[in-house]
Amino acid sequence: MICTVVGARPNFMKMAPIVNEARRRGIAQLFVHTGQHYDQRMSDIFFEELGMPQPDLYLGVGSGTHAEQTARVMLLFEQVLLQQRPQLVVVAGDVNSTLACALTASKLSIPVAHVEAGLRSFDRSMPEEINRVLTDHISDLLFTTEPSGRLNLLKEGIADSAIYFVGNTMIDTLCQHLEAAKKREPWRTFGLQPREFGLVTLHRPSNVDNKATSRQIASALQQIGQELPLIFPIHPRTLKNGEGLWEAIPGLKIVEPMGYLDFLGLMSQAAVVITDSGGIQEETTALQVPCVTVRPNTERPITITEGTNQLVPPITDQIVSAVKNRSVKIGNRPKLWDGKAAQRIIDVIQSYLDTKH
Ligand code: UD1
Repeated sequence: MICTVVGARPNFMKMAPIVNEARRRGIAQLFVHTGQHYDQRMSDIFFEELGMPQPDLYLGVGSGTHAEQTARVMLLFEQVLLQQRPQLVVVAGDVNSTLACALTASKLSIPVAHVEAGLRSFDRSMPEEINRVLTDHISDLLFTTEPSGRLNLLKEGIADSAIYFVGNTMIDTLCQHLEAAKKREPWRTFGLQPREFGLVTLHRPSNVDNKATSRQIASALQQIGQELPLIFPIHPRTLKNGEGLWEAIPGLKIVEPMGYLDFLGLMSQAAVVITDSGGIQEETTALQVPCVTVRPNTERPITITEGTNQLVPPITDQIVSAVKNRSVKIGNRPKLWDGKAAQRIIDVIQSYLDTKH
C-alpha cells in the first residue's frame, strides 16, 4: 500500500492526477489530508472540481506557527503510519505538511517519494525553501519537473539513480481541465471580455505581512487598475494582514479565493497575471500568458528561460513598468509538461514497489 498526502491548496492540483492514476491501476492507497488548509474555498472545492476521492483520513491540523503546524502534523501522521505501515509515502511541493510527513515517514524507515523535487530559490528566508531542501534530502524517489531540479540535487550530493525527470503533474491537471474551465467563461461574472483584464494573487509573507512592501505593491495595482481592470481572489492571510489596504483600491475587484476551474478559466484569458505564487508561474507558462512575478527570485527558472514569466521586486514603478512593457513572447511549453507526468510517476513507483518485494 502507498500513502498519498495533501495538506494545503497547491498540493491538490499536484497530487490529484497521482491519486487518480494509482486508483486506476488498482494500487492500494491510503489518501491523507493533513488539514493545513481547511476552508471550503481553500480546500473542499478542489476535491469536487478535480475529481479526487475524499481523503481516507483527515488530520485537521489547521493553522498555527510553523513549529506548531509542523509538529501537529508529525504527531498525528506518526500514528497513521504506525497503524497502517504503508510501503511508501508520496508527498508533493514545499508546504509545511510536505516536510512534516516526509520527516515522520523517514524516521520510521518508510521510504518517501517527493513530487516536484530539486527546485531551489536559494533564498533560505522562504519557509518553502527550507521545506524543499529538507524533504529532498530524506526522500528515496525524487521526481523533478524541469532540468534544473536534477542539477541542484546532484550538487547537493543526492544520487543520480534516485532522480527521475517526469514532468509536471500540475500541468497534467491543467491539461485535463482547461476546456471545461474556459467554457465556464468566468470573466462574464465581472462584466469583462477575454484579454481585457489582469489577474492578481499575492500571499507571500515577504509581500503581504510587511506594511511598507504591501503599500508599494498596492500603489502599483492602483496605477495599473486605472487602465486594466484587475481581479484579485484574495488569500485569507493577505486580507487579514492588509487591514483594508487592498479593498480601498478602485479598479481592483477583490473576491474570495476561487475554485480551480474559475481561476484557471480566468488565468487562460488574462492579459497579464501578477503574482507571487510558485505554481502560477508554471501555469501561465503552459498557457502562454504573460506573468509578472513580484519576487526577487524563483525556484522555477524554466518559466523565465523558456516561458512567459518575469521577476520584479516589490517596488511600485518597477511593477507598473513590468506590466506595461510585458513580454509578448509566446514561450515554449517546457519538455514533458504534456499531461502525462503522473503516469510516469506511477510507472516508477510500481517498479520500485516490485523490486522491494
Ligand atoms: C501555505 C504554504 C505556501 C503556499 C500557500 C498557498 C507553507 C509554509 N506555506 O501558505 O507555500 O504557497 O499555502 O495558499 O506551508 N487560513 C485560512 N484558511 C485556510 C488556511 C489558512 O483562513 O484554509 C489563514 C490562517 O489565518 C492562517 C493563514 O491563512 O494562519 C496562513 O495559512 P498557512 O497554512 O500557515 O500558510 P499559507 O500562507 O496559506
